Amino acid sequence: MKKTIRDFDLRGKRALIRVDYNVPLDKELKITDDNRIRATLPTIRYALDHGAKVVLMSHLGRPEGKPVSSMSLSPAAKRLSELLHTEVIQCSDAVGDRVKQELSRLEGATQVALLENLRFSAAEEKNDEAFARALAQNGDVYINDAFGSSHRAHASIVGVTKHLPSGAGFLLEKEIRYLGEAMSVPRKPFVAILGGSKVSDKIGVVENLISKVDKILIGGAMAYTFLKVKGVEIGSSRCEKDKLELAAAILEKAKAARVDILLPVDHLTVQKVEAGALSRVEGPSISPGWLGVDIGPKTIELFRSALDPAKTVIWNGPMGVFEMQPFAKGSYEIALKLTRMSGATTVIGGGDTAACVIGFGFEGKVTHISTGGGASLEYLEGKELPGIAALEDR
Ligand code: 3PG
Repeated sequence: MKKTIRDFDLRGKRALIRVDYNVPLDKELKITDDNRIRATLPTIRYALDHGAKVVLMSHLGRPEGKPVSSMSLSPAAKRLSELLHTEVIQCSDAVGDRVKQELSRLEGATQVALLENLRFSAAEEKNDEAFARALAQNGDVYINDAFGSSHRAHASIVGVTKHLPSGAGFLLEKEIRYLGEAMSVPRKPFVAILGGSKVSDKIGVVENLISKVDKILIGGAMAYTFLKVKGVEIGSSRCEKDKLELAAAILEKAKAARVDILLPVDHLTVQKVEAGALSRVEGPSISPGWLGVDIGPKTIELFRSALDPAKTVIWNGPMGVFEMQPFAKGSYEIALKLTRMSGATTVIGGGDTAACVIGFGFEGKVTHISTGGGASLEYLEGKELPGIAALEDR
């Protein structure tokens, strides 16, 4: 059991909180999805309400160790200020004398500070000892609320814990609780839904899930590699030719473990993936020159019935090209089904799937939507995340 923010007396202390504000920005540097910022509000509010001065730190993008103005955290500072109804001071850097001065003017309850992008220094990703120590000088207590970055052994995630008392924020605690419970003590039947484009991205997840779940439903482009192995014609659909053996081995493993793997029985197909493309439903085979962009109506029905008895569901990876509205129906119907499974624990494994479920307006209607992309995948693979391991035990 790790310490949490509740285990510390915060009054008069500086709470140095690692958040993951690595949010998507459009060309005008406007935030297109602020979920990761909103998800940190409970921890920030708790720290302020308990008398702490709040200093936040995050990375944004991959600036490769040098300042890049389009990767400044100012858009995040602005959005946080709107959401928190509190002034957010955007610091000029993450460490150094100027930052010390900026933080010395920080007033308790009425302001919070946000350090500048940690990755503007190469020392962050190297987990550099001196950089971690310098970061630690910005706080008295360290709180990790950056689940999405906790698979990275970086200075602000791991190194800093050597210099300050440390614990988890509410978001990190919630992620560990829902993803952890689903993986370690799931209520049965336990069904996993996997999608997305590549089998290779999900190998570790499938292998770890086979020993835990009752059924795996596979959609998205990765399904075509599995269908190909089974001898089904997939037309011009995306197929990872170098992963066919691996897909065959996964199917064998699942069979040996008596885990049902359900693959699409029909598909929405097009000749070209573009807006306004002529589409049709076909299946199980796909004609030459056509490619699958979504699961078809029979598959939606098949997957819905497979989900009916489930008490725990984990979903990672969309069912089709959901970014294009005509090809989003499969993902929408699966998401809708999860919102109607009131007796079940329904966990969305982050990344694209989170964006898709939130985009459909289903936030708050499933048990938990993870804020982690790579982090939630690694968690579902059964790996220990360095950022969680580094925190103090209770
Ligand atoms: C994410 O978006 O998955 C995290 O913020 C980690 O970002 P990274 O993959 O650049 O380390």
